[in-house]
Amino acid sequence: MRRAEELKERTVWKSDPHTQVKHLVYRHYLQCWMGKICQTFPEATIVDAFAGPGVYTDGPPGSPVVIARTFLEHSAYQRFNRLNLICLEERPDRVEELQRQFAKLPKAPKLHISVQPPGKFADQQSRLSALAHRGRAETPVLWVVDPFDLKSAPYSLIRQCLAAPRDEVLFTLFTNELHRFCQREGYDKAMTPYFGGTHWQAAVPERLGRREAFATAYQQGFTDQGLFTGSFGIRISNQSARYHLILATHSEAGLKCWAPVTWKLDRYSGQGASTETAGAPSLFDEASWVVDRLDAALRAHAGTEQRWETLSGQAARLNHTDKHLRQSLDNLAAQGLAFRVDPVRARTAWPEGCTVRFYAPEDVADESF
Ligand SMILES: C[S@@+](CC[C@H](N)C(=O)[O-])C[C@H]1O[C@@H](n2cnc3c(N)ncnc32)[C@H](O)[C@@H]1O
Repeated sequence: MRRAEELKERTVWKSDPHTQVKHLVYRHYLQCWMGKICQTFPEATIVDAFAGPGVYTDGPPGSPVVIARTFLEHSAYQRFNRLNLICLEERPDRVEELQRQFAKLPKAPKLHISVQPPGKFADQQSRLSALAHRGRAETPVLWVVDPFDLKSAPYSLIRQCLAAPRDEVLFTLFTNELHRFCQREGYDKAMTPYFGGTHWQAAVPERLGRREAFATAYQQGFTDQGLFTGSFGIRISNQSARYHLILATHSEAGLKCWAPVTWKLDRYSGQGASTETAGAPSLFDEASWVVDRLDAALRAHAGTEQRWETLSGQAARLNHTDKHLRQSLDNLAAQGLAFRVDPVRARTAWPEGCTVRFYAPEDVADESF
């Protein structure tokens, strides 16, 4: 079944490396956001407005569960105040699955989860805003807006999410789709409401870097209105960005959590590595058989998560050291084929005790979203 069909037909679908990078951005940003907001304000809210079913068929959690776990597992949790997590999803089957996923989490008095009845974001935004602020405009509210298409999140709706002084938005902008279809006849009818104006047209003549130019144009809408904004291209290895995550916030301090996210994640998405390593000698020039055997063994884990202990044992059985294992993992990570999913923070890329998820090259290459 093609990915587009899977997303339409199935309640739950398979994850891909881009989703893992997106969730890593969420986790890193939330680690910082929660650390500041949940200790400063008596309560705060996160609205996951396109929540999905909360899980992927191959096991990883969906964004609502990622958010909840980041809160529950935060090192400053003991000092946290109340967090409300409000989830909206259009499809009843996905709402049901999401409830099942939340039921597996431990009960925690500081975390108030509310899964809304199935509904469309455009119809529900003002009601959700009242729920999120709980009668106080100054309650910090982070809106996570991660739709499948252009039409369900026009710019006017995003602006409504930024109406109160401590509202912030983390938005998925379909820069690859914009790049591919912007010159198609009639597509402008979707682009103008999506951007809230015709300023997207300035990006069209850009032949190199058009995706980035669309992200910049979208951000321009925020800066023109005195907001602060950051962006991060979700890409694997040296491929072009498939989409961008755009942050919009009222305060410059809001950006302080954003900048570290982008540099921390460069190594996962390969954004820094691609130009640096192009033309550089292979890590394994001296002993290419090492990479061949270990690399083949690791690639065979595609579609699964493996504990460090298992991988280390496997490397040893192939007569290789943990150092070789780490080099092989670095090599796969640069291609988007291996991700450390736990712990989210560590001083080195592959610490003992970590968990690694593996993907196949087809997962990276699939162009459809
Ligand atoms: C990209 S997926 C969300 C993935 C999820 N945020 C994650 O990262 O795990 C988009 C979800 O939004 C739902 N959806 C589509 N249109 C919607 C709308 N107008 N309002 C609310 N949910 C919608 C889809 O059914 C789908 O489950």
